[in-house]
Amino acid sequence: MEKIKWGIIGCGVIASWHADSVSASEYAELVAVCDVDEDKGRAFAEQNGGVAFATDYRQMLEEGGVQAVSICTPSGLHSEMTVAAARAGVHVLCEKPMAITGPQIDAMMEAVEEAGVKLEVIFQRRTYETSKRVREAVQSGLLGQMTLGDAYLKYYRSPAYYRSADWRATWELDGGGALMNQGVHGVDLLLWIMGDVESVYAKAESKARDIEVEDTCVALLTFANGAYGVIEGTTSSNPGEPTAFYLHGEKGTIVLTDKGICKWAVSEDKSTVADNDPEQCVTRAALSAVSDPRAMGRAGHQAQVDDLALAILKDREPMVTGESARKAVELILAIYESARTGAEVKLR
Ligand SMILES: NC(=O)c1ccc[n+]([C@@H]2O[C@H](COP(=O)([O-])OP(=O)(O)OC[C@H]3O[C@@H](n4cnc5c(N)ncnc54)[C@H](O)[C@@H]3O)[C@@H](O)[C@H]2O)c1
Repeated sequence: MEKIKWGIIGCGVIASWHADSVSASEYAELVAVCDVDEDKGRAFAEQNGGVAFATDYRQMLEEGGVQAVSICTPSGLHSEMTVAAARAGVHVLCEKPMAITGPQIDAMMEAVEEAGVKLEVIFQRRTYETSKRVREAVQSGLLGQMTLGDAYLKYYRSPAYYRSADWRATWELDGGGALMNQGVHGVDLLLWIMGDVESVYAKAESKARDIEVEDTCVALLTFANGAYGVIEGTTSSNPGEPTAFYLHGEKGTIVLTDKGICKWAVSEDKSTVADNDPEQCVTRAALSAVSDPRAMGRAGHQAQVDDLALAILKDREPMVTGESARKAVELILAIYESARTGAEVKLR
């Protein structure tokens, strides 16, 4: 089968997840990388088969050798790079969060629509079998009327982590802290499982780190399906805890964590107590990034690289579209607005 010629913009921490996934893919081949830091970018190009290297992403996009590109730069740059890629006719696999403001997201969506290119956003947890199973249970009504959908997103990030790159924990380029960077994975998964949120009331600030964005946040949610929920997000839990989702309905409870499905208790009707079914409690090999951002498995990125390549080759919709990925950013922005104003914020 034809292989999609792939480029990577930004050769930092997450770039090797993309390079390894592209190299291992049956449907893609790495042909070029780009970084404004010439030494770092050239070294990365050498480590990955001596592919072409550029310091200017526009040059890489416009030279015509690249059909798809992974965007692995600071989050506040994702929008302008996606727009430039789309205008050059290049498909995009964009790291999370897809962007950090509403207008940035609108610009991306308009550009890909106009150019007719595909946009997929990395949310690797959606590729896990455990996530899919839990979503299917909730969406199919197995738990009946949902009452609560809670996400506990408790990470540890050291002061050294925040010093490791200038853009980290800045409003301008990270767009937020514990929620917009780390917690966005769990916010996306909660929305993917439970459906849209209608309104939110929240508190957020930095409690334990000298950073301008929040390291700790609590939010009270009202879902469109009628349930309430909470999100607790922090990067100052010491140590980090496995991410956990508590999903309660009138007929049962499912608990999903980084370790897998820990509880699956479903009864026939709402008047009997649900018992845990150990056969439904499956573990996933948990390489968890709760305390160390580099300790993360690669299967999710592999699945999404393969998915975008196949979406291009077969001209079908990618697994995580911009339309669905923007919901997590919009909820986080509403949470920040509520924390700032003290008022409940309604989502559209
Ligand atoms: N999916 C995940 O689990 C996951 C994990 C880590 C990071 N990320 C996301 O990946 C993105 C990058 O994070 P990181 O930790 O790899 O950051 P990083 O700072 O390690 O790397 C970013 C790289 O982008 C380069 N860069 C900056 N401006 C550029 C420009 N104009 N043109 C070309 N290169 C430029 C920098 O020199 C740097 O090498 C962020 O959006 C982050 O949220 C996702």
